[in-house]
Amino acid sequence: LARGVREPDLAGRHVVVSAGGTREPLDPVRFLGNRSSGKQGYALARTAAARGARVTLLSANPSLPDPAGVDVVRVGTAVELREAVLRAAADADAVVMAAAVADFRPAAYATGKIKKKDGQEPAPIALVRNPDILAEISGNRSRPEQVVVGFAAETDDVLANGRAKLKRKGCDLLVVNEVGERKTFGAEENEAVVLAADGSETPVPYGPKEDLAETVWDLVAARLA
Ligand code: CTP
Ligand code: CA
Repeated sequence: LARGVREPDLAGRHVVVSAGGTREPLDPVRFLGNRSSGKQGYALARTAAARGARVTLLSANPSLPDPAGVDVVRVGTAVELREAVLRAAADADAVVMAAAVADFRPAAYATGKIKKKDGQEPAPIALVRNPDILAEISGNRSRPEQVVVGFAAETDDVLANGRAKLKRKGCDLLVVNEVGERKTFGAEENEAVVLAADGSETPVPYGPKEDLAETVWDLVAARLA
């Protein structure tokens, strides 16, 4: 079927999508962040709404307008995103973690702006691990038939890294894309392979992020049916 004339195959379903990238504050004016644009997550939210789903979009610092017909919840940090995911996932049929979650956060938050001091080298920044949200929700499904989807950008042996990550996280589907020249953050297009826990692999050719989103929902809808 051409785009825009899809069956409403997600009607009556609640899907949760995280998008963007978390920011981990150091002080009132600075943070550790990443280059995720949020475009893939927003494409997932738009396409799920077009297929009839009720969509909760947990949006971490995107520079994109809210999509129509979607409940948008704004989050900043990984810890905030975790709370929002756990809340929204309680009655969700599917959870798709498209957000880039910071692996680490500063161990301490300075309530006042960190200042330079004459003749002093800067202090190193101590970091602590953030919670692994995808592994947590995969291991504690709020309903047994819930479908959990992760995303991974990999280099080197992309598929082997993806397979190992799928197992480690315990999710049903992992969308793996190779980080490389054309495949930069913020691009309009994407190429990927969707790995499934049942061993199947679905390649998605280079194209608009909507096409990858539709493939993800095809695979999710098949598992919910
Ligand atoms: N993710 C998460 N919580 C984290 C880190 C990642 O939920 N603290 C999710 C991401 O949203 C993504 C998936 O896990 O859907 C894979 O993210 P990735 O960074 O590739 O996984 P990591 O386990 O952090 O592995 P790596 O060391 O390669 O970064
Ligand atoms: Ca990571």
